[in-house]
Amino acid sequence: MNNGPVYATYESCSIEIPKPFLLVIFGASGDLSQKKLFPALYRLDRDGLLPRNSCILGTARTAMEQSTFRELIRQSIEKALGKDFDRKAWDIFSARLYYHSGAYDDPASYTKMKGIIKDLEQDHQTRANRIFYLAVPPTVYELIIANLGISGLSKEEGGFTHVAIEKPIGSDLASAKQLNAVLRATFLERQIYRMDHYLAKETVQNILMFRFANAIFEPLWNRRYIDHVQITVAESIGIENRAGYYEKAGILRDMFQNHIFQLLALTAMEPPSVFESERVRDEKVKVFRSIRPFPPDSLTDCLVLGQYEKGTDGSKEVVAYQQEKGVRPGSMTPTYAALKVHIDNWRWNGVPFYLRSGKRLAAKKAEISVHYKGVPHLMFSRAMKEEIEPNTLVIRIQPDEGIDITFQAKSPGTKICLSPVNMDFSYRKFVALTDYERILLDCMQGDQMLFIRDDAVEQTWSLLTPAIEAIETGSEGLTLHAYASGSEGPADAAALLRNDGRVWRPL
Ligand code: BG6
Repeated sequence: MNNGPVYATYESCSIEIPKPFLLVIFGASGDLSQKKLFPALYRLDRDGLLPRNSCILGTARTAMEQSTFRELIRQSIEKALGKDFDRKAWDIFSARLYYHSGAYDDPASYTKMKGIIKDLEQDHQTRANRIFYLAVPPTVYELIIANLGISGLSKEEGGFTHVAIEKPIGSDLASAKQLNAVLRATFLERQIYRMDHYLAKETVQNILMFRFANAIFEPLWNRRYIDHVQITVAESIGIENRAGYYEKAGILRDMFQNHIFQLLALTAMEPPSVFESERVRDEKVKVFRSIRPFPPDSLTDCLVLGQYEKGTDGSKEVVAYQQEKGVRPGSMTPTYAALKVHIDNWRWNGVPFYLRSGKRLAAKKAEISVHYKGVPHLMFSRAMKEEIEPNTLVIRIQPDEGIDITFQAKSPGTKICLSPVNMDFSYRKFVALTDYERILLDCMQGDQMLFIRDDAVEQTWSLLTPAIEAIETGSEGLTLHAYASGSEGPADAAALLRNDGRVWRPL
């Protein structure tokens, strides 16, 4: 028998099919499972990327017949995929879908689950490879992890055991350390998969390929040539039905500590000697360690916060954050932040990174733009009245995935006449797997590169926690600037750059 890796050809790529496994999803009837996990798992299975001897055990508190659970999941997959849903593929997928209900704090439920797992492993020959996926509110993370330990389910019994855990990993440095300690008391770091779905977006993964597989960009990727960098993750949606979570989180916890800092690390890191999970994660942590701490007593110099007012989402009128269901009257939760970051190392000294993210902005757009310095001497100055624009390189993460470079070219005619032109590479047709498909596959294959290591979590929290505390205790006197839904964000965010002689790229 050939025990080597098996590959599937998928959209002209060769993708390794994971070894047989059993996936246990906690919170299997919840929002995340229905909207993201099951549609992703179904698509992977339909496209031949999951081994046939794999199976899924959904678990949640609600008592439900297996047939009811399967029907619930069918409906949510059909809703997510629309015409892309295929009945035959569903039949094959759903035949390996099981359900177990139980309270997360009841040890007897884990004992029962252990029995079910053993039976399923026997029936499906999953070779004791297990993944526990926590798609539950963070308040029950520690409880479930501890019970997996007590019941012995965290132990490897001839196969691998992985635990996958969604953000947020803590809500400040102390709680992140506490959660990491609980995780490490039960699992080894190599078994722990802290998810950040931004890292699984194809265009985000492309940042490193683009930087380090081309000789022409990297020599210019430093303070000698780059004036500044902007990282934008803008959303047009509001907080939807998540006031309970969002009121406690706010934009800095929800988007900066994880997604935006990860984008920053990929943009700023040094090349590792090999493209290997630990080496890449080492380099990212070095970036976090080089970020200049944000001084809690003069945060206004580097941070602008905002909260959305009523306005439009492009097609209809929408309410202010204060009027969203579940938001406390007079809430001071920020839904927008713009942050200036300095990286104190040899490569980036003196190059500011401007980060911004917000809900209910003019567009859904995530991009990294690298703004080069102007030419050192303008020999055309006598013939030209206007200044020429410096070059920019934009990595568009979503939508319209791609990379574009703006440079100057002569406009047709006899005179000296320059105008900016774009060289545009569209990545869209290459995007094969969705973020959740990619991240699930990597967790099944045991590749931790796209997952956040404990030290990275703690380092990013140690940067943000003093600022968040200063904001929340009101000690710094930061203002929460109002901005209209559907706008570019608060005017003061524009001032943050204007004071440095720069402007944001329009959304
Ligand atoms: C999540 C945040 O992590 O990312 C949400 O909790 C946000 O508030 C979402 O809307 C954005 O993800 P994406 O993939 O739609 O850009």
